[in-house]
Amino acid sequence: MLIAGNWKMNGDPRDLSEFTRMVARAPEVRSAVALVVCPPAVMLQKSVERATVSPLTVGAQDCHFAASGAHTGDLSAEMIASCGAEYVIVGHSERRTDHGETDEIVSRKALAAQRAGLTAIVCIGETEAQRDAGEADQVVTSQLNGSIADAVDPGRLVIAYEPVWAIGTGRTPSTADVAAIHGSIRRWLDDRFGTVAGVPVLYGGSVKPGNAHELLAVENVDGALVGGASLKADDFIAIALAATAVLEARA
Ligand code: 13P
Repeated sequence: MLIAGNWKMNGDPRDLSEFTRMVARAPEVRSAVALVVCPPAVMLQKSVERATVSPLTVGAQDCHFAASGAHTGDLSAEMIASCGAEYVIVGHSERRTDHGETDEIVSRKALAAQRAGLTAIVCIGETEAQRDAGEADQVVTSQLNGSIADAVDPGRLVIAYEPVWAIGTGRTPSTADVAAIHGSIRRWLDDRFGTVAGVPVLYGGSVKPGNAHELLAVENVDGALVGGASLKADDFIAIALAATAVLEARA
């Protein structure tokens, strides 16, 4: 299992107290549950330093696909790796919406992440209108086709299924709906990379301590990408402990 926190545009590099609490509590979580925190880029370096000798690792929230050059305001995957980060989220729906990122751009970013030695967490998910129109499965498959290039290394790939309408709303799909989409994503990954590839598929969208166990227990859910609840150490660790409990129940 993998529990990843996406802090989005929250946090202050002068105050690492919450992050430090997460680092301090990380050993409570079973080692079969990997913990990743993705703070804003200005906090990457300090967070990595604070997490040295901790099981918790650090990721970024976006990267450019080029290694360097005239791209004002952007960061390359190589720069992120040089801070000691190990993961980068690409194609989050907020970036697809706020910055017009297409599947093609996301695909190039995922390859760039891997070029720099990072693991790419590629986000996909349907809007509410698409779900209401019965198109969720089709949208997710089309995003996978467009965002995951043939050259992608499955060993450094994570998929995060985040229905756009569940992000920050307190609403989540039913466990049956999560199972259906995660099942399709798993079949797509098996077709592309073979059944042994083991690419983790995370669920994201309003994951909280109160619903984490139920969502993580769904078949083909290999972890969570957590927004709001990842800002508080106690909530983030509670979600990771729910993952531990699910693994124990499966054993
Ligand atoms: P929330 O957990 O706040 O709904 O955000 C989910 C998300 O977008 C994580 O990337």
